[in-house]
Amino acid sequence: MVTVHLIAAARPNFMKVAPLYHALKKTDWCHPLLVHTGQHYDANMSDTFLQDLGIGNPDFHLGVGSGSHAEQTGGVMMAYEKVCLQDRPDWVIVVGDVNSTMACAITAKKLCLNVAHLEAGLRSRDWSMPEEINRVVTDTLSDLLWTPSPDADDNLKHEGIPQSKIHRIGNIMIDSYEMLRKKIEDYHFDSLPVPKNFGLVTLHRPVNVDNPVSLKTLVNVLKEISVKIPLIFPIHPRTQSRLQSFALQQSIEEARGLILTQPLSYIPFMGLVRRARLVITDSGGIQEETTYLGIPCLTLRENTERPITVTQGTNQLATPENLVSLVERILAGNWRKGRPPELWDGHTAARAVQSLAQVIDG
Ligand code: UD1
Repeated sequence: MVTVHLIAAARPNFMKVAPLYHALKKTDWCHPLLVHTGQHYDANMSDTFLQDLGIGNPDFHLGVGSGSHAEQTGGVMMAYEKVCLQDRPDWVIVVGDVNSTMACAITAKKLCLNVAHLEAGLRSRDWSMPEEINRVVTDTLSDLLWTPSPDADDNLKHEGIPQSKIHRIGNIMIDSYEMLRKKIEDYHFDSLPVPKNFGLVTLHRPVNVDNPVSLKTLVNVLKEISVKIPLIFPIHPRTQSRLQSFALQQSIEEARGLILTQPLSYIPFMGLVRRARLVITDSGGIQEETTYLGIPCLTLRENTERPITVTQGTNQLATPENLVSLVERILAGNWRKGRPPELWDGHTAARAVQSLAQVIDG
């Protein structure tokens, strides 16, 4: 039996880990164990996702929690090293680009363990994003790099990663969507008023929410848009705390077209995405999910590590200055339909299992 640690840490990790965990568990050669670093710990940022995705309690919980970048990264490294020394997994699989991804990759590699990175090769070329540092370090250290799209393969090749380590397997998040499609489509909201026609908003990037001027500008723009179309806004804990400390809470609450809610778990959230007329976000994953579902997406960032969602999908980068006019274009029906990239088909986990088996067999 091959022992594999699957590392989950923060909200965007769970829908990447779950399909692979289920697929590895079905094999007769692999013993997958779930390691939760505890980077996200609120029930609605973590446990409800594990429940929705059917992965139960983690086998190891590191309980690291929040902190500065160094504190969080160092905390995960110290805690995970102990687990690795005790359990000596044959492979460590890290996903995405959060601090825990990089921390566990460094820890495992320093103990000479094999590391696979799921969602490798994405690059924004924006070094002010902590995620870009996490992506580059993780990819440099990994023995097996699972990429979602051809641009990711090209990025890795340009950085000198040997072709033999790069396996393009597609986008694992689409597997989660397909796995839960029926429940997502059938989901009924009891406690949240969901208008027939609405836009969906998520915001949490430090560049948008950590600066009082930027956040105030965004709140005002959202209020202006909410007069044209109601907006449902599940508020991330980082954003919630900034709204409070920058005294913007009252301003956002008084807008009648803005429907504010706590963060939602996977099934209800995707239930909203598929029904939304448009999505305004600064998330990474939502750019991909909207492309898959053909929903217009406006990404409040200067760059994206997921360019295929712009060239082939329904995504467009936006600024607070042009957001209103882009929303008007969408509402006028003037938006491209896009098409899902190759291998975003719900079978990525199966290809990852095949790829891992092939590498292990040599
Ligand atoms: C992290 C990831 C980011 C990802 C995002 C998704 C890094 C560098 N950032 O950002 O890439 O897009 O997750 O959500 O890894 N907090 C809570 N409860 C929680 C978790 C966080 O209240 O369960 C609050 C804390 O005040 C914390 C803050 O949110 O300090 C930020 O959390 P953190 O994990 O540091 O970064 P995110 O902004 O969530």
